[in-house]
Amino acid sequence: MDNESTKQAIRVVADLILSSKRIVVFTGAGVSTESGIPDFRSPGGVWSRFDPDDFTYQKFVRSTETRRKTWQMFGETGLTTDAEPNPAHYAIAELERLGKLDCVITQNVDNLHQKAGVPANKVFELHGNMRWVKCLNCGKRYPMDEIQGRLREGKEVPDCDACHGMLKPDAVFFGEALPPDVLSEATRRSRSCDLCIVLGSTLVVYPAAYMPMYAIEAGAKLVIINLTSTPLDGKAAILIQGKAGEVMPKIMEQVRNRLSAG
Ligand code: APR
Repeated sequence: MDNESTKQAIRVVADLILSSKRIVVFTGAGVSTESGIPDFRSPGGVWSRFDPDDFTYQKFVRSTETRRKTWQMFGETGLTTDAEPNPAHYAIAELERLGKLDCVITQNVDNLHQKAGVPANKVFELHGNMRWVKCLNCGKRYPMDEIQGRLREGKEVPDCDACHGMLKPDAVFFGEALPPDVLSEATRRSRSCDLCIVLGSTLVVYPAAYMPMYAIEAGAKLVIINLTSTPLDGKAAILIQGKAGEVMPKIMEQVRNRLSAG
């Protein structure tokens, strides 16, 4: 997009935000790349360095080698480290402070929306999160920080110190069901919003990628802000090819200017 058309699109999105009452922001890994966390399908992304077929729930529970590779992948991709929110996360939190955000529905497990100030009860983590690690045998839970410490000390496959059972992060693995209560509430919110803003997702993984479709079916307007094309681009009222951390703050600047102009 050339500069002028991007500026015009930013103004239109600001108008849509001001005229909407129940905004759902749907995010993918692209909203966190400017925080230093790689996404999955961009060149150099996680799945260009690791094979996603290796990381199913079934293989994780069946093979110690898969568990070793999984913890290695988490460590190398920064999914277990503490990143900081970037301007895109803070712009979404500002939307919430203005009373315009119904909720964030995210595929991310990095907790950055909450860290940027969106209340936890307005963040629906479809793919779980990496903050906690659970023993699959006795259910004992550990904060990720504690397990990170063990990994740093060279423990390649951490196990439960109560029963030596397998430890697995709360993130949802391929082949594992999404948390049903989160999925049903996210579906309900998507079906009742009047504006859905997609940020940083290829929209190729289901059932998460159904959310923007539910919004469109319910008559909501769709805005997509992404660096590359998605299967829903043709349904978007506004499509901005740009960095979320640059575009979202510009949109919120327009919203603030309109609100202060009265
Ligand atoms: N601003 C905007 N878009 C960006 C940025 C950025 N700064 N950085 C990357 N992108 C775009 C990429 O071009 C890509 O289209 O974000 C998208 C990220 O897509 P994916 O890597 O496929 O991530 P996501 O859509 O979240 O993947 C969904 O797949 O592997 C599973 O469970 C994993 O939750 C993940 C799911």
